[in-house]
Amino acid sequence: MKISSHAVARMLGAWQQGPGPAHQRLSDKLRLLILDGRLSLGAALPSERDLATVLGTSRTTVGTAFRTLVEGGYLATRARTRATVRLPGDTAADAPAGTDTETIDLSFAAPSAPVEVLHAAFATALEQLPRHFERHGYDRYGIAELREAVARWYRRRGLPTGPDQILITSGAQHALALLTRVLLSPRDQVLIDHPTYPHAITTFTQARARLLPVAVTCSGWDAEQLRAVGRSADLAYLIPDFHNPTGMCMSTSVRERLGLACPTIVDETMADLALDAPAPEPFALHMPAAVSIGSVSKSIWGGLRIGWIRARPPLLERVERSRPTTDLGTPVVEQLATAALLNEDLTGRPETLHRLRGRRDALRQALAEHLPDVHAPRPPGGITLWATFPGPISSRLAAVAPDHGVTIAAGPRFGIGGAFERNIRLPYTLPPDQLARAVRRLARAEQALARGATGTHVPAPIA
Ligand SMILES: Cc1ncc(COP(=O)(O)O)c(C=O)c1O
Repeated sequence: MKISSHAVARMLGAWQQGPGPAHQRLSDKLRLLILDGRLSLGAALPSERDLATVLGTSRTTVGTAFRTLVEGGYLATRARTRATVRLPGDTAADAPAGTDTETIDLSFAAPSAPVEVLHAAFATALEQLPRHFERHGYDRYGIAELREAVARWYRRRGLPTGPDQILITSGAQHALALLTRVLLSPRDQVLIDHPTYPHAITTFTQARARLLPVAVTCSGWDAEQLRAVGRSADLAYLIPDFHNPTGMCMSTSVRERLGLACPTIVDETMADLALDAPAPEPFALHMPAAVSIGSVSKSIWGGLRIGWIRARPPLLERVERSRPTTDLGTPVVEQLATAALLNEDLTGRPETLHRLRGRRDALRQALAEHLPDVHAPRPPGGITLWATFPGPISSRLAAVAPDHGVTIAAGPRFGIGGAFERNIRLPYTLPPDQLARAVRRLARAEQALARGATGTHVPAPIA
């Protein structure tokens, strides 16, 4: 879309007023228009000459302002075409990512940021930030705006919740660590899904707990088994919504029949990523005593580092009191931005879900083509496939794969006692062409392994 000089001039308003050189005022004002979405992404600006005439300024002023915006990543230019609006970090506008020599990282199951959405949320956050300047900024429960926004997120999903039931953390992992500290003692027994999220395993074992694994299979959870094991457990940790790594969603009938007697933490980090069916109801609707943890890391971006705990106020008070030994609160700007995202209901955006569906299909198709012996059921949501190889090669494959340009998370990291040696977790958060390339490389790594290759690579960090 082309934008005329007169339209730009109208949007700019009285840009000439204010301190500093004219080109800086102009570039600042144009940047704000881009961040506010008034100059939309991809829009073609008028020529420097035309805009300078309409604005009654020199061509040098406009040219310098445009150059500043290009350097900051807010404009893209190509020879003999108009400058177009972009945002910094917009990979579609950058050189193509994942060139053939670059290692493709399939060990992190986390999406890249929705650039435009995040820019708008941070613009709102910056507008609201000065309200917080009069206070000290240390808030162990989190700022009121975000506690209310998270409470509303639960209410929208059918679970009555007040802000006094919410404590803001720096991500769901932080929430889990804080709860582990107040709920668990050495030698306590923790019921876990098996497989489960690896950092939960480490969190519990470092707290010197013993783990009681209960299988999550491609048919889901077994309520009777969970109840039976739950009788000996001091704590349960479940990921009922689009489970990491299998992507399974616990059925309503299992939720209704579960009634675990021990304190139960439910990790709802993936709740907004329902791909094939409506999003599940919050777990605490069926088990009101359940402590829920959540975050925007998978639905928006892990770099926000915002999560939360939903629990009864007395438990939150214990968490709040124990918090200062590790941290004194969560950064305010990120909290304000997350409140803006939640208030505008942007955590389960149709665009995000549509893109994930396409990527899930692309990954499964590439597996069918290049690794036909691998079984990878289609998960109803989340961001990962739990792939099964015919033989127990997972750890060796993860050690060899980087030699072929791809890193993966081996199955045993998601379990205890060496289980899941036939599995790997494959996230479908990258664009389809990169997923296809990654699978081709994985197939080459598998062939190399079959020829006797041994890798030396240590396990990659994962999330
Ligand atoms: C099930 C689950 N819980 C918690 C986390 C950590 O989330 P955050 O980035 O919000 O700390 C992850 C990240 O991979 C996860 O998959």
